[in-house]
Amino acid sequence: MKPCLLSAALLLGPAMIAAADVARPPLAPAQPQSGAYHTGQAQSLTEKLPGGATTKSLSASPGAFASSAANLAFDDKMTFALGRAIFRKLWVSSPSSTTASDGLGPLYNARSCQRCHINNGRGRPPEGPHDSSVSLFLRLSIPIDKDADPELLRRRGVIPEPVYGTQLQTFAVPGMAAEGQLQVSYAEKRVELSGGEEAWLRTPSYRILAPAYGPLHPELQMSARIAPAMAGLGLLEQINDADILSLADPDDSDGDGISGRPNHVWDQALQATRLGRFGWKAGNPSLAQQNSSALQSDIGIGNPLFPIASGDCSPRQTACTEAPNGNTPGQDGLEASQQMLDWLLFYSQHLAVAPRPTAADPEVLAGQALFNKAGCATCHQPHFVTAENPQLPALSRQSIWPYSDLLLHDMGAGLADERAEFAASGREWRTAPLWGIGQAEAVNGHSYFLHDGRARNLLEAVLWHGGEARAAREQVVTMPAAQRTQLIRFLESL
Ligand code: HEC
Ligand code: HEC
Repeated sequence: MKPCLLSAALLLGPAMIAAADVARPPLAPAQPQSGAYHTGQAQSLTEKLPGGATTKSLSASPGAFASSAANLAFDDKMTFALGRAIFRKLWVSSPSSTTASDGLGPLYNARSCQRCHINNGRGRPPEGPHDSSVSLFLRLSIPIDKDADPELLRRRGVIPEPVYGTQLQTFAVPGMAAEGQLQVSYAEKRVELSGGEEAWLRTPSYRILAPAYGPLHPELQMSARIAPAMAGLGLLEQINDADILSLADPDDSDGDGISGRPNHVWDQALQATRLGRFGWKAGNPSLAQQNSSALQSDIGIGNPLFPIASGDCSPRQTACTEAPNGNTPGQDGLEASQQMLDWLLFYSQHLAVAPRPTAADPEVLAGQALFNKAGCATCHQPHFVTAENPQLPALSRQSIWPYSDLLLHDMGAGLADERAEFAASGREWRTAPLWGIGQAEAVNGHSYFLHDGRARNLLEAVLWHGGEARAAREQVVTMPAAQRTQLIRFLESL
C-alpha cells in the first residue's frame, strides 16, 4: 500500500459540523483531496460527518440508514420516495392483474430488495440448520479450465454451474421447484488473547440439500454472501477511479506486506471492462448494474440492462425458461422499466450515512490511534473527496470517511472462498467499508460481520483477518486487553 497524500485536512474545521442539515456548496478545489489522515483532534471533528454534507440519520435507531441525503434538493425527495417504493415492492408471480409488480422468479431468492437489505442494513446468515433466512445467498460456479469460454469469462467473471447458474435460488413460484435448500453448520475454535482472554471463532460450512435439477457439478464452487448495508453507496460510486488506483500496490513495492489490487469487471452498459467497486469482491462496476443484476438474479425480474424475464434460470431449466413472464407494454415490454431502474438508482445513491456523535470521545480517539498504529487504516483507508459531478450535486465534492480503499486484499486461507470472480482470487476480498458498522445492532438487531456473517461481533471480525492483514491482527491479539476495548469502542463509533 502506497502512503497517501497527507493533505489539507486541517482546513476543515468545526464549521463543517454545523452544515449537517443544510445544503452546502461543493468544496472549492483548494480544499482537501482524497488521502489518509492520521490521528488528531481535527480529524475527529470533521469525521463527525462521515458522509460530508449528505450525513443525516435517525441515529441509533432501526431507521439509521433510511434517511435521504441531508443536502438533497426538495424536488428530488419525491424521486427518492419513488425509488424507495421500488426497493420495498413485493413482486408477485405471473400472470397477475398487477402488471407493474409481476414477473417474480420463476426461481428467486427473495421477493423484494428490502427483504435482504433489511432496513437498508446488512443481512444475516441462517442461525442453524433449520433457519431459512434469506439474506444470505450462495454464489455458484465451476473451476476455470482450458476449455472455459473466454468471452463468457470476460462477461461473467466466473464459469456458471452448467444447470444451476451463478446463484442458488432457494425459492420458486408455485408449481415449480426451488433449486435446493442451503444448510450451514459451524465448527468452533478457540483463540487465545493477551491478558488471559479468549475468543471463539466459528468456521462455517455450507451444503445444498435436495438439489431439484439433478446432481450439482462435482467440482462446484460456492461463495456465501450476506447483503451489505446500503447507506453511503452513492458516495463510494463518486470516488474517482484514479484515487482508488493510486492506492493499489499489486507487487507490494513498498514492502509493507499489504498490496491491494483493483478488480476489473464487465460493465454491461458500456460493454467494456472497467474498475469493480461493489459487492464483497468488487465484482460490480456501478450501482446501476448492481441494482439491475439484483433485480434479475435475486428476484427474477427482467429489466433493460438484463432483459431475460426468467432471471438466473439456465437453458437446461426448461420449465423455468418456458414459464409465464411479466413482460408488459407498460414496462417497456419488460418486467421492470427503465423508469423503475432510474428511481431505484437514485434511491440507492442517496441513502445517507449516519453521523458519529461520539467521534471525539477520549476512548474513541485512543481506539482510533490504535487502529492507525496496527495498520488497519492501510486497507481501511479513512478518507476521500468525491468527484465533481453536476448531475449529482448532493454527492459532488464531499469529504467522506468510508474506511475502505475499495481494493482487493488476500485475507488468508481462513476467509478464502477459493472462488475467483473476475480478477479477484479465491483468497481476495474487497476491503469492507467500515462506516455505519457501529449502527448494525440498532438497524438490524444483530452484529454479524464479514462477507458470510460468520463473525458474531466486531472482535471476531478482526480475529478472522489473515493474509495481508495478519500483522494487524497479531497486534490486536497481543495488545493489552484495555487497548482492545478502546479499538472496539472506535469501531462502534463508526
Ligand atoms: C437475496 C438477497 C438479496 C436481495 C433480494 C437483494 N440483494 Fe442486494 N445484495 C445481496 C448480497 C448478498 C450482496 C453482495 C453481493 C456480492 O458480494 O456479490 C448484495 C449487494 C448489493 C449492492 C452492493 C453493495 C455494496 O456494498 O457493494 C447493492 C447496491 C444492492 N445489493 C442493491 C440491491 C437492490 C437494488 C435490490 C433489489 C432490486 C437487491 N439488492 C436485492 C443480497 C440481496
Ligand atoms: C490487508 C487489508 C486489511 C487490513 C490491514 C485490515 N482489514 Fe479489516 N477488512 C479487510 C477486508 C478485505 C475485509 C472483508 C473481509 C471479508 O468479509 O471476508 C475486512 C473486514 C473488516 C471488518 C468487518 C466489516 C463488515 O462489514 O463486515 C472489520 C470490523 C474490520 N475489517 C476491522 C479491521 C481492523 C480493526 C483492522 C486492524 C486491526 C483491520 N480491519 C485491518 C481488509 C483489511
